[in-house]
Amino acid sequence: LKLTQGFSASRREPAKKQLLLALEKQVMVSAQLRQQIMSLPDVISPGTRGVENVTDTVVKTVWLFAKTHALDVLRGLDSATNNVFAFYPLDAVFRIENEAGVTRARQHALSMSGRLGFRTVRQTKVATATSELARNIQMYAGRGEIKLHTIAQKAGLVIEASDRGPGIADVNAILSGSIQSKTGLGLGLRGVKSIANHFTIDSALGAGTRVSAVFYQD
Ligand SMILES: Nc1ncnc2c1ncn2[C@@H]1O[C@H](COP(=O)(O)OP(=O)(O)OP(=O)(O)O)[C@@H](O)[C@H]1O
Ligand SMILES: [Mg+2]
Repeated sequence: LKLTQGFSASRREPAKKQLLLALEKQVMVSAQLRQQIMSLPDVISPGTRGVENVTDTVVKTVWLFAKTHALDVLRGLDSATNNVFAFYPLDAVFRIENEAGVTRARQHALSMSGRLGFRTVRQTKVATATSELARNIQMYAGRGEIKLHTIAQKAGLVIEASDRGPGIADVNAILSGSIQSKTGLGLGLRGVKSIANHFTIDSALGAGTRVSAVFYQD
């Protein structure tokens, strides 16, 4: 009975205190970060002021100190705080059928790559690749989906775009630049291929299109 009481009492500690305790066991916490964490409100909900800044700084600090173990540490922080913050890069699927879906996928790609320790320029590239692939789905297939997932062992991020639209007649011609796009600059797929660490595309007329692009930190 006593044990149960003790457990529930510590569970009622504000999330910011749980965070600080768990974080200090893993990394050096600067006075500034401690101050930033402790000035959060006791009750945190999505969109609470200051949470995004704290999350970013915590993630950066963890990558700086924990390096190859960073993702394990972030996962540990999430469980220590009952997932009040979202430190670990969460996999997600986005239905793409309008501009809002494109924006959500892009936004999540940005936040995921940040949590994976990607620097700002690389984060922007991942977000751009996501929106290029999403926009292609919307524009040429009408609807489809974007899956974003983490390769934990190598701190990588995979974008998987798939649709059951009309497919592409000559993928090779598009990737080599020998076909002129009628609708855009025609840099979308070639651009994504050039910035990704791995790129595969599977498409055939009438069979839909599936693109996979993998990104690592640099
Ligand atoms: N998901 C898709 N389904 C069917 N066709 C597609 C799909 N994605 C691309 N395509 C075809 O491949 C061509 C090249 O796509 P890409 O994204 O490289 O350039 P674009 O969309 O034409 O121009 P940009 O992306 O620069 O605005 C498109 O014009 C379109 O014909
Ligand atoms: Mg395009």
